Amino acid sequence: MSVREILKMGDARLLRVAEPVQAFDTPELHALIADMRDTMAAVNGAGLAAPQIGVNLQVVIFGSTARNPRYPDRPQVPPTLLINPVITPLGADEEEDWEGCLSVPGLRGVVPRWAHIRYTGWDEKGQPIDRTVAGFHARVVQHECDHLIGKLYPMRVRDFSRFGFTEVLFPEISAAEDD
Ligand code: NI
Repeated sequence: MSVREILKMGDARLLRVAEPVQAFDTPELHALIADMRDTMAAVNGAGLAAPQIGVNLQVVIFGSTARNPRYPDRPQVPPTLLINPVITPLGADEEEDWEGCLSVPGLRGVVPRWAHIRYTGWDEKGQPIDRTVAGFHARVVQHECDHLIGKLYPMRVRDFSRFGFTEVLFPEISAAEDD
């Protein structure tokens, strides 16, 4: 398995609507997931969607059991692989918080997201996943699933006075973490 190149904003492949996975528990799917995990681990990402490595399928991974140096103060989210996800907002409450993206290196912005969601989907074996979550967990899921409909977080920013370079906004974040 291998660390793959992460596409950056401006690449048209990030703007596509991803196709649903049709067959579970296949060698091809397991290889894709292994590459996604290797790639996310190599860059300390909080999540990664298949389109970010140029694969136009509805597959996302997110979460971590270890403290993430890119988000040292954030609550932990269970490591999750999610296929063909569906998000349902629960109520109309929104929350704003800072986001970054491996496809938008060096920048952060404040993004409104649904505060409470239910999400469903499948794991790599085709077993169902059904969770009701809030806060940072809900945010991460919405960010990653946006990649499956060709949306990058800057497209969700409403107030561009709260969008800028990480090194300027958050100088305390390690210089080694560039996105
Ligand atoms: Ni992203």
